[in-house]
Amino acid sequence: MAKLFVCSFLFVIAACVGNIYAEDIQGGVATTIAAHPYIVSVQNSDGSRICGGALINSTTVVTTASCLDTYDVSQLLVGLNNGAKTAKIAAYGLDPSYDFTTMESDVAVVKLAESVDVDAIELASSAPSSGASGVITGWAANDSLVDINVSVLSAEVCGSGDYKYSEDEILDSMLCGLATNSQACGGLNGNPVVVNNQLVGLVSWGYGCGNKGNPSVLANIPELRSWIVQEAESL
Ligand SMILES: *[C@@H]1O[C@H](CO)[C@@H](O)[C@H](O)[C@H]1NC(C)=O
Ligand SMILES: *[C@@H]1O[C@H](CO)[C@@H](O)[C@H](O)[C@H]1NC(C)=O
Ligand SMILES: *[C@@H]1O[C@H](CO)[C@@H](O)[C@H](O)[C@H]1NC(C)=O
Repeated sequence: MAKLFVCSFLFVIAACVGNIYAEDIQGGVATTIAAHPYIVSVQNSDGSRICGGALINSTTVVTTASCLDTYDVSQLLVGLNNGAKTAKIAAYGLDPSYDFTTMESDVAVVKLAESVDVDAIELASSAPSSGASGVITGWAANDSLVDINVSVLSAEVCGSGDYKYSEDEILDSMLCGLATNSQACGGLNGNPVVVNNQLVGLVSWGYGCGNKGNPSVLANIPELRSWIVQEAESL
């Protein structure tokens, strides 16, 4: 309940519709779709982005459960090649352990209606060491892709009290990403976080704008991987 309270409180002073972040990344470094071919958007039919995600093979996308849980998913599309191409959604599933009050297990699998010829990213199978260098990729206000370098923190470190989160809030299904540029801020729910060319996280929630010295909280992909693989097989 604490998180919902913060969310509704922030609503008064900042945007908090569907996700807690300012949607546009500020303070990122320009990058290209060629450097991150796996990044996708979950979007409305008019092309407006709802959240980010990552392609894990030619027919399968992972995004957050919090991205999809308030939408009629049959009306949504997946944007590939930075929106140059879209694919329809054939089926999807939210992790049954997802809880919108605690944000536990904030992950979902989306099966595309057609196979796409785009380079996918591998799911990390083991947790990165706390402090590992990672990159969050997302969109700046001008719709260009940008990267934010982050230090990926374990749940234990993130909930240690050194940051804005308590150990009760940062669960095993979460990691954190602390921007190394303290001016960086924002980022859309579902934006992928990569360490050593493997997907380790998806932006899930956070207090404030998610950075300025305050980590953003990520879905912990290595921890959630076995459900993702099982769901991708059964969809
Ligand atoms: C878009 O914004 C980013 C970040 O502010 C900047 O680095 C990039 O050069 C801009 N791109 C264009 C095409 O204006
Ligand atoms: C981000 O990290 C990469 C290596 O992970 C490094 O090459 C790059 O210079 C860093 N960028 C910034 C702006 O710190
Ligand atoms: C995508 O990955 C899932 C899970 O590993 C697997 O079941 C499915 O067959 C894969 N699809 C393709 C086209 O590789």
